[in-house]
Amino acid sequence: MAKSNILSPIFYNTLQGVLNFQRGFQPQDTDIILASFPKSGTTWLKALTVALLERLKNRSSNDHHLLLSDNPHGIVPFFEIDMYNESLSPDLVNFSSFPRLFSTHMPLHAMHETLKESPCKIVYVCSCRDVKVMLISLWFFGCAIHKIELDKNLLGSMFKSFCSGTVYYYGPFWEHLLSYWRESLENPNHVLFMRYEEMKAKPRDQIKRLADFLDCPFTKEEEEKGSVDEILNFCSLRNLSSLEVNKTQKTNNVDHKNYFRKGEVGDWKNYLTPEMESKIDMVIQEKLQGSGLKF
Ligand code: A3P
Repeated sequence: MAKSNILSPIFYNTLQGVLNFQRGFQPQDTDIILASFPKSGTTWLKALTVALLERLKNRSSNDHHLLLSDNPHGIVPFFEIDMYNESLSPDLVNFSSFPRLFSTHMPLHAMHETLKESPCKIVYVCSCRDVKVMLISLWFFGCAIHKIELDKNLLGSMFKSFCSGTVYYYGPFWEHLLSYWRESLENPNHVLFMRYEEMKAKPRDQIKRLADFLDCPFTKEEEEKGSVDEILNFCSLRNLSSLEVNKTQKTNNVDHKNYFRKGEVGDWKNYLTPEMESKIDMVIQEKLQGSGLKF
């Protein structure tokens, strides 16, 4: 299988989607945009954000929780993959609720013109857990959605593309990362930069950080009654992957179960050679030099 085809069932019209988004999207001040490079923890970030906003609806139980009836990707669609890929003006009727919640894999510079006057909130999640694990995660995902065996040749060609900055449709990983990193430093009220491995290591701190940024901080009462842990447990990989909607259903030809695998830090060690490992480390070190961003 050609490496460029690995995510084609999902990204089949993405470039058109980016162009349509740039021409057609009208931001609102209260919009929230969840951004990431593919396989960086997007599903988790979407689930946590939905759960944070759902709690504001003040229901007495979780029975009608949005995440029980749909996958996080169904609730928070991607601009360029699900919305603008076929139209300049997609139907936004499902976004009448406040605030509107969108997602994207575009680098920030691709949205710059469209969002330049907008104070909307952008949360970026980065798989600094290890860029290498992101590559492995993509490899598993690509093979799973194509229902093929894990193919080491495919991993080899994805590795080369990754190091040369031509993997996927979103440009070099390091430019993606740096576009959000720099803006998060310059404009911290506009862009929040989150790291997957920090979310794993200190989930309570990170979800509170997210809630503060989204202007829906946990109250003292909520903290006392355990709301923080409740949301973290509800959005855990184990819980989400056990929900009926994620075990049995699919969206855009992708089985929801494929969005959940191990979620471990360091999983790449089982698949990449030491040479591949040091090459990736070298590329990342060189590209991020002087940015202040360290893995
Ligand atoms: P692995 O393939 O390393 O297991 P994305 O959501 O951007 O596609 O990223 C996919 C990675 O996030 C996968 O990593 C997946 O297992 C992990 N993941 C999905 N849901 C998660 C959750 N609720 N908590 C932690 N990790 C999660």
